[in-house]
Amino acid sequence: MRIEDYASPEELKRLGTVFMTVLVGLCVVALFEFIVVPSLRIANRPPSGADIPQQGATGWLDPTEYPAVRGYVVPPVDPKTVLTASPELVQRGQELYAKNCVQCHGPDGLGDGASALTMDPRPRNFSQAAGWKNGSGLVGIFKTLAGGIPGGGMAAFDFIRAKDRMALAHFVQSKAMFQRPPEDAAALAALAKTFASAGEVVSNKIPVSLAMKKLVEEYSAPKPLVFSGVTARVVTDPERAAVWLRNSTAWRGGPKALAEAVMAQAPGNGFAVESAGLSPAEWGSLFSEVRRTF
Ligand code: HEC
Repeated sequence: MRIEDYASPEELKRLGTVFMTVLVGLCVVALFEFIVVPSLRIANRPPSGADIPQQGATGWLDPTEYPAVRGYVVPPVDPKTVLTASPELVQRGQELYAKNCVQCHGPDGLGDGASALTMDPRPRNFSQAAGWKNGSGLVGIFKTLAGGIPGGGMAAFDFIRAKDRMALAHFVQSKAMFQRPPEDAAALAALAKTFASAGEVVSNKIPVSLAMKKLVEEYSAPKPLVFSGVTARVVTDPERAAVWLRNSTAWRGGPKALAEAVMAQAPGNGFAVESAGLSPAEWGSLFSEVRRTF
């Protein structure tokens, strides 16, 4: 018994087509169910608390949102510990070099980093004697790192602490394959002196959003002052008086100037017209009172 006995070839063909169509349809539905629907679900899931980036937290991608850091003073260092190369210094220099310099100067300091090809002038090749503008000595390299080379691609790295810049200079020198000219003794002594005498101040660092907040606070309308003593008696509108005192320079010459300036504009400036009756002594104490705040 064969299937041809029941259906003509045309009918079989038709059935085959229907079968294939249904199969393809099922595949499409399955694809939709197993791939599209789950990913839509994941994409539309409301963020859980842990996923919301917190300001200042690590992982927050806005580069201006670094956490606030209080400034500090790095105590002066013994020049000997930074002016002579030690394995630790060179090691420290190498770490900093890998982070800050390698993309231009290349892993071996040959001036062949990934960004070097398009640069003109090319980054310095530390292994060779040619081309140094500030010089290949410690003083010269330190100067380059502090101020950069104007007009070229070499920026200042003054955000790196002085001691670390010195470590970088030693690392740069460790790449030299030439006889360095002798160091200028006077310049080296001067450099040593700055290390010995100056503690380095590392300033406070706050995220940009906090800085903006502070700026807005600073420039918004002044808080109405609490006036006491004589001022409490003669000020009718503390808010207006505060704005006037802050913006006007006419009164700053002394009690007499204050009396004249106040009376010229009272009561528009927040002072009472009756202040005209104040004695010179009272103007004096009024002056010292407002002077303290404005
Ligand atoms: C963006 C690329 C770039 C980066 C990053 C860079 N440099 Fe340079 N550097 C240059 C270029 C370009 C020159 C050559 C400038 C010139 O000749 O005017 C140069 C020159 C120098 C010189 C030679 C100065 C002289 O006396 O002629 C020193 C030393 C140096 N760089 C050290 C460093 C160190 C150390 C770092 C990392 C802290 C660094 N550079 C990072 C591009 C770079």
